[in-house]
Amino acid sequence: MNDLNPLSSLIQAGQFIGWTCRLDYEQAVVLTCDQWKARARGVPHNCFLLAADAGKNPEEIILLRVTGSAPLPAGHETLLASIRSLMARPSPPTAPAPAAPADGEFQFGGLGCRILGTFYLQAGQLRLGSDLESYFHAPHLAVYRPAGAALEAIVNFVNPERATAAQEEARRLDLPGELPRFPIGTVRYTSTDRLHRGGDCEPAVFYLNAVDFLARRTAVFGMTRTGKSNTVKQLVSVVMRTSRGSGLKIGQIIYDLNGEYANANQQDKGSIAEVFPGDTLRYRMLPTAGFQLILNNFFTQLVEGHTTLKGLIEAGKIPRNADLEAFLSMDFSEPRREEYNSDGEFQRQSGIYQRKIAAYQALLFRAGYELPPHFKITFEANAGIRNKVNPSVDPAGGLTATQACEWFQLARQIQDELITAKGADWIDPDTNALMNLLLQRNDQGAYIPGFRLLQPYKDYHAPNRTTDVCDEIYQHLVGGKIVILDLSVGDPAQRERLGKRIAQHILRQSMAAFNSGRHPPHIVIYVEEAHNIIGRQEALTDIWPTIAKEGAKARIATVYATQEVSSIHPNILSNTENILVSHLNNENEINELAKYYDFRDFSRSLIRAQNVGFARVKTLSNPFVIPVQIDRFDPERERRRAISGGPGL
Ligand SMILES: Nc1ncnc2c1ncn2[C@@H]1O[C@H](COP(=O)(O)OP(=O)(O)O)[C@@H](O)[C@H]1O
Ligand SMILES: [Mg+2]
Repeated sequence: MNDLNPLSSLIQAGQFIGWTCRLDYEQAVVLTCDQWKARARGVPHNCFLLAADAGKNPEEIILLRVTGSAPLPAGHETLLASIRSLMARPSPPTAPAPAAPADGEFQFGGLGCRILGTFYLQAGQLRLGSDLESYFHAPHLAVYRPAGAALEAIVNFVNPERATAAQEEARRLDLPGELPRFPIGTVRYTSTDRLHRGGDCEPAVFYLNAVDFLARRTAVFGMTRTGKSNTVKQLVSVVMRTSRGSGLKIGQIIYDLNGEYANANQQDKGSIAEVFPGDTLRYRMLPTAGFQLILNNFFTQLVEGHTTLKGLIEAGKIPRNADLEAFLSMDFSEPRREEYNSDGEFQRQSGIYQRKIAAYQALLFRAGYELPPHFKITFEANAGIRNKVNPSVDPAGGLTATQACEWFQLARQIQDELITAKGADWIDPDTNALMNLLLQRNDQGAYIPGFRLLQPYKDYHAPNRTTDVCDEIYQHLVGGKIVILDLSVGDPAQRERLGKRIAQHILRQSMAAFNSGRHPPHIVIYVEEAHNIIGRQEALTDIWPTIAKEGAKARIATVYATQEVSSIHPNILSNTENILVSHLNNENEINELAKYYDFRDFSRSLIRAQNVGFARVKTLSNPFVIPVQIDRFDPERERRRAISGGPGL
């Protein structure tokens, strides 16, 4: 055989397992015998087979997947005749002759196969069509179970058109040089893998192409503890390695609901944060050593801080009073000129706004919220008002928080005078309600708990933060860092809100870059336990479905991991290019998945095989599902690689 011919090189004579004895466009039945099977180290359920003309350089090779056993075509007599006739044929060069017909015929049986496609040559290039063009009714094609290098070539095969498209895409994505691809595991067909992966069998490595992954969607499904997080860690580290090896910055952000990426967890002795210490930033909602706060500074990010407080108070089921209600419905966004008819009106509203935020800042301080360093509370008050309230200070020059509290206390004592002096809105209803909360008295002068109601939420305020946390995170991603959002602590509603806000910010910034003709940075967003974050009920305009739809343009890849296929928004699922599934425990989830590609072939095996990391993988480049044992994320090995600095692919 000509080894240079890419078709012939797929055929491994030693892996001969039988002959096709029936073939049509969809199905094939392969006649095999025990000796041949044994010699080829078994024929596992769902394994790939190749069928080709024996004894000469094939012009095409049919790719099959074993889907079960199959009755042999005809009655006993015909079968015997068929077997004898087959045995009379010259066998493929190295296939052993089966045992003497007298016992041999009992050792024959049929394998049911589905046709996955046809490998053929065109202009010297290997191609894979996804069907069978034509067939013979008595097709005695020799059948082989590919292993080692041939199997690796099959599972990683990419059609020339797709390869060209990938090249172009890589250019658009600024991927330099050779198209990077990530090794993620080795082919595995069945839970019992004594024969097909045992002994000295050379494993067939399966690669995920970077262009299939970047700016695309990937789903990781499977029951708890079947290796989803391991897959994500494996992806994060191969992406990091590729990024370091190629010099292309790829930012990665992990929505870590269980806190397993940020901390060394005891079972796994190692975490992403430990493997890439210089390139990983950890964020949490509550103050913790080694973590940045996901939170914002309530004194400076007013709208954000107020929204957080509002969510917490509403979730806290605190008894309401009129001033608290007023506080909850306040809006702290700055007045904009275009909202007003005249400069004069705009100025007046700006003055009101200044006083309102001053009262709010004083309230936060009174409730014990730590001030940012050197913080001053500033607002305008004309000489008339200053003289009435407190002639010794000018709020326009900035008051300390204590001075501001005193100022509002004094202003309250002469509030009636202020109203008559300057018109009713020098203290507008919002400022009035804030002053009530600050001074713990309602409009009727009765005691209210006031600022005390805000005290329990102090931990959600980050006094040292000077920029919006979303922007800070985005800048890390632009710099090619790994950002871990440890969402395992803190209020669940806030967690969801902040999670969305960060995702929104990433999309907005990257879309802005795209729309202005610049190249957005490469970003991969990993969402763990995605059913908690990306609900099926979300409107199409919500952030996660939008990212799934628009993310590609903005070079945002999403990877979501969950045990519930059915919980994922259908729009996201149908826009998902890569799917990796390990064990699922019920028919509903399997049926949901079986709607996609050829996952139906694996329905039984997915329910039955509970092995950790045993995934069935469909990627954009591969026209069919490939069963793969995902590599174990090995922190020690990754750390050594990270230190040696090579791409390590
Ligand atoms: N491919 C794999 N090979 C070997 N062990 C694995 C593999 N995937 C996961 N594990 C181990 O199995 C356990 C559960 O895996 P994990 O990824 O946390 O599952 P999940 O996220 O699906 O709950 C972990 O201890 C992990 O180290
Ligand atoms: Mg997990």
